[in-house]
Amino acid sequence: MFEENISLQHLNTFGIKAMAEKFAEVNSVDQLSAIVALHKDLFILSGGSNILLTKDITKPVIHLVNKGIEVMDQEKESDFVLVRAQAGENWHEFVMWCLSHDLGGLENLSLIPGNVGTSPMQNIGAYGVELKDVFYELEAMEISTGLIKTFQPADCNFAYRESVFKNRLKNKFIIINVTFKLTRTHHRINASYGAIQSKLEENNVDKPSIKDISDAVISIRKSKLPDPQEIGNSGSFFKNPVISSDHFAEIEKNFKEVPHYVISPTEIKVPAGWLVEQCGFKGKRIGDAGVHKYQALVLVNYDKATGLEILELASDIQEAVRVKFRIDLEMEVNII
Ligand code: EPU
Repeated sequence: MFEENISLQHLNTFGIKAMAEKFAEVNSVDQLSAIVALHKDLFILSGGSNILLTKDITKPVIHLVNKGIEVMDQEKESDFVLVRAQAGENWHEFVMWCLSHDLGGLENLSLIPGNVGTSPMQNIGAYGVELKDVFYELEAMEISTGLIKTFQPADCNFAYRESVFKNRLKNKFIIINVTFKLTRTHHRINASYGAIQSKLEENNVDKPSIKDISDAVISIRKSKLPDPQEIGNSGSFFKNPVISSDHFAEIEKNFKEVPHYVISPTEIKVPAGWLVEQCGFKGKRIGDAGVHKYQALVLVNYDKATGLEILELASDIQEAVRVKFRIDLEMEVNII
C-alpha cells in the first residue's frame, strides 16, 4: 500500500525538497478505511498549497486524490443547488466546472491554489467571499474509529482563515468531500472589493455576470500573486492582524495612509502586506528565499531555498513588524 522514500517536492506549492518515508496515493474511501484501520498517526497531504516543509516526514503520508463532482439536488422551484465535490478535486478546476454550468457562489474564489478537501480547513477567502458563505456540509473520516461523520456549518467553527479542523479536531478527521450551496438563478454578484470594481470598469462591464467576476479575480490575482508553477509560494504567509482601535490610532499618527478595515468599534484589521512592506522587506531576497516584489505578504522560493531558510526570513519579518508596530504577525501557512 505504501511506497518508500518519495520526494514531496512536486506536491507542495513552495517546491521545497523534502521526503516522505512512507507515501500512499489514495483515491477511494475504501482505501482510506483500510489505512486508518492500521495507522492512527498520519500526515494528510492534499494540494500542498498551505504548508511549509522544514523537514522530512516520518509519519505515513496520505495523498488524497479522490475525484468526482455531482449535483445533489436541483429542485426546479429553488434558486439554489447543492453540489458535492470529492476532496481530491483541484479547487480552481472545480470553480471553473461550476461556472461552466452557470452555478454561482464560487467565482470570487477563482484561482486559489489547493484542493477542495482542504478548502474548509482554513476557510479559504478572497475578494469579499469566504468558503463559509457557500458551504453546505462536508463528510470526514474520523481517524480513531474509521467512521464517516457529517459536519454542518455550525460544527465547523469557521472564522477568518480558521476552522475546527485547524484547532480542536486537528489531525483527527480526514475530509472526504464537501457540499456547496450554489445559486442556479439570481446569482448574488459580489463586486464590493475595490480591485474588482476597478477591473470591471477597465473592462467596461457594468452588469457583471459570475463569469465577469471570475475573469476579474483571475486577472487581479495574476497581476499580484506569483504563480506557484513559476515561483514556489503558499499564497499569503501571514494573516492580516486585528488590533485595537487605540493601537491603530497610534500607528495612524505616524502613517496617515495606513490601509485598514474596521471590524468593530474597537477592532481594526491592518493588511500584513502593508506592515511587511513598511519594514523594508518587499522584494527582499536572501539566497533563494524571498518576499514577492508585488505582494509583501507572499514569501517565495526562487529555486533551492529550504523550508528552514523561508522560516528564518519569516521570523525576521515578524521581529521587524513587532519592533516597528508592536504587532505580532501570525503565520497563515502551516509549518511542518
Ligand atoms: N498592501 C501593501 N503592500 C503589499 C501588499 C498589500 O501596501 O505588499 C496593501 C494594499 O495596497 C491594500 C492592502 O494592503 O491596501 C490589502 O492588499 P490586498 O487587497 O492585496 O489584500 P491582502 O489583505 O494583502 C488578502 C488575503 C488574500 C486575498 C486578498 C484578496 C489574507 C492573509 N490574505 O490579502 O488571500 O487574495 O486579501 O481578498 O487575508 C491567501 O490567503 O493566500 C491570499 C492570497
